Amino acid sequence: MTKVSAPGKLMLFGDHAVVHGRPCIVTAVNHRMSVEIDKRKDNKITVNAPELKIEDYSISFEDLNKEHPKEVRFVLTAIKNFFEKYNVKSGLNIKTKSEFSSKFGFGSSSAVTVCTLKALSELFDTKMTEKELFDLAYKTVLDIQGVGSGFDVATAIYGGTLYFVTGGKNIKPIKVNEIPLIVGYTGIKADTATLVKMVGENLRNNPEKIHNIFGKIKNIVEETKNEIENKNWKIIGYLMNKNQELLRSLNISSKELENLISVSINAGAYGAKLSGAGGGDCMIALAPEEKHETVKKAIEQAGGTVIPVETNAEGVRVED
Ligand code: MEV
Repeated sequence: MTKVSAPGKLMLFGDHAVVHGRPCIVTAVNHRMSVEIDKRKDNKITVNAPELKIEDYSISFEDLNKEHPKEVRFVLTAIKNFFEKYNVKSGLNIKTKSEFSSKFGFGSSSAVTVCTLKALSELFDTKMTEKELFDLAYKTVLDIQGVGSGFDVATAIYGGTLYFVTGGKNIKPIKVNEIPLIVGYTGIKADTATLVKMVGENLRNNPEKIHNIFGKIKNIVEETKNEIENKNWKIIGYLMNKNQELLRSLNISSKELENLISVSINAGAYGAKLSGAGGGDCMIALAPEEKHETVKKAIEQAGGTVIPVETNAEGVRVED
């Protein structure tokens, strides 16, 4: 039996622009996804995913190419892609376990994909490099979602805090320990693929305007990259607010996100913004330690849920 775990992620800067060739900054969080895989002697692949209410979903490996429910699609497509790439086949028992709800937008699909591929590479002793793991996991996510920059896949693999450019063209660790972040969940599940497609359409209709916004977001990301290693949180908070203004002009914020963002700033945060696709999911606030309790209380009073997170979590790892 092989057990592998990978962290969730929080996008700090560069949301959406990173889908279109710009950089972003992302950190791995200490909420982990894990996958256990065992070989079987027959040709069955059986998946158990208790958090997704999947119990003994069973197919034969000849059926990997068929349509499957969305809850098991990432695991099964990862297996299919792995079998094809390495020309192997086996019956498997798979069990997934998540420390975070897929509602938060912490990247459960990419984390489960990375865990599945890493566990298979251990089980079949294929010695994949991190880059090979990235390429196959990113292909798997694109096969299913059709869109996405791959930043969540990279975070699940490398962990820490990363500077990342679309499709993994550039993946650089940023040296920083704990980031004084507060995370507020709006209670609304956002559909990333729909929002990404909406921004893509907006880009096709108004290329000059949207490229101009993406260009400004890129400048913010580059400036943040320099400031973050020096822990210039006040400046970074200011840059967060600037990034949020630009996201707002892409029409992907929501009244719930805006509410949690403004109460955080009023309660003493240096800055706050949505994190990820927008439309719902989570917002993040950066605040001096002495203001953390006040900001958290303000988020809860405004109807949000504070999710305790530590940043800079370790990337994918094989568990004992
Ligand atoms: C979604 O969490 C973040 C986006 O930038 C999409 C992506 O980068 O794949 C909106």
